[in-house]
Amino acid sequence: MCKILAIESSCDETAAAVVIDGVIVKSNVIASQLEIHRRYGGVFPEVASRQHILAISTVIQDALIEARTGWNELDAIAVTYGPGLVGSLLVGVNAAKGIALALDIPLIGINHLEGHLYSNWLKTDKNDPPPVKFPVLTLIVSGGHTELVLVHQHGEYEILGRTIDDAAGEAFDKVARMLEIGFPGGPAVQEAAKTGNPQAYDFPRAWLGNSFDFSFSGLKTAVLRTVQKYTKSNILQHPSMMAMGHQPQAPAKPRLVIPVADIAASFQMAVVDVLVSKAKAAADKYNVSEILLAGGVSANALLRNKMMAACGRPVRAPSLILCTDNAAMIGAAAYWHYKAGHFASWDLDVVTNLELESK
Ligand SMILES: Nc1ncnc2c1ncn2[C@@H]1O[C@H](COP(=O)(O)OP(=O)(O)OP(=O)(O)O)[C@@H](O)[C@H]1O
Ligand SMILES: [Mg+2]
Repeated sequence: MCKILAIESSCDETAAAVVIDGVIVKSNVIASQLEIHRRYGGVFPEVASRQHILAISTVIQDALIEARTGWNELDAIAVTYGPGLVGSLLVGVNAAKGIALALDIPLIGINHLEGHLYSNWLKTDKNDPPPVKFPVLTLIVSGGHTELVLVHQHGEYEILGRTIDDAAGEAFDKVARMLEIGFPGGPAVQEAAKTGNPQAYDFPRAWLGNSFDFSFSGLKTAVLRTVQKYTKSNILQHPSMMAMGHQPQAPAKPRLVIPVADIAASFQMAVVDVLVSKAKAAADKYNVSEILLAGGVSANALLRNKMMAACGRPVRAPSLILCTDNAAMIGAAAYWHYKAGHFASWDLDVVTNLELESK
């Protein structure tokens, strides 16, 4: 049996987990900074690193207590070393190094995207997935990434395509900001879209020929132009002012009501259409038996449902709590590196733009 303490601090969640054999989650503690960053409408990097420093010791201790695990029972320490925010990553990496050094056990550096991918291996109360059969296609859709990855074996990755501009999650966040419906944008857009008509606006889909790359910046701009039609170029005159004999002055124009639900539903459908079509084409081309979804956007219900309906093969997605950032997924990925003896040296450093590469 292999017990790994995993630490994740790449963005705005301070997280620690104890994971057994890469599949059993004994604890999964997440201190989210969401409420702190909400007032800025996005993650404020300096504030994030300071919050990680404040939270990390308690989060790690809580993870051990919840897992009823003593320091001397741990076999290895795993930590995210990239990609992510430099100040945030540094807190997790230095904490992990200190613990591994003090306990004299191996340190394992994990790529955050590999962690998202391996969230599909974890068992939860409601979810006891059968073993994954390779090769498997993974769609990683998160706040900073949109990647189609063919996984040939543990640690053997072939990137089939990725976004050439915005990530899918970033597009959700920016559209939510345009619609003024909150942060993070994904859950807010999904909620707003429930009462909207997904055919109301024919937003563009970037197919980029036969490639497996993605682009969401044109879609984002199309949504912005649509919103602006309701906010900027409104030349309606307010009837009450006219009745009182006022001559309307140019800037004093009431805003039209923005059809938030219809715009959210049409935008969400445009994103999901592209993600599903490209994943299906890649799954057919490489004849995989299964598709895995991972990353924050994989929590999206429309994406899950459309992917299952369209792809003609089993589709797995992590339980909702494991879609967004957590340390259990880092522990899951770390197990396979532990078995393969991929240990980090004491000069492990953070790599903010780390890419997913085969070991
Ligand atoms: N239900 C949902 N529908 C669509 N998007 C969602 C949903 N829930 C969360 N998201 C999006 O997921 C993203 C956060 O996911 P995640 O935590 O994996 O990203 P990240 O860690 O910031 O980025 P990365 O993993 O690329 O470094 C946000 O952009 C958020 O809007
Ligand atoms: Mg993430």
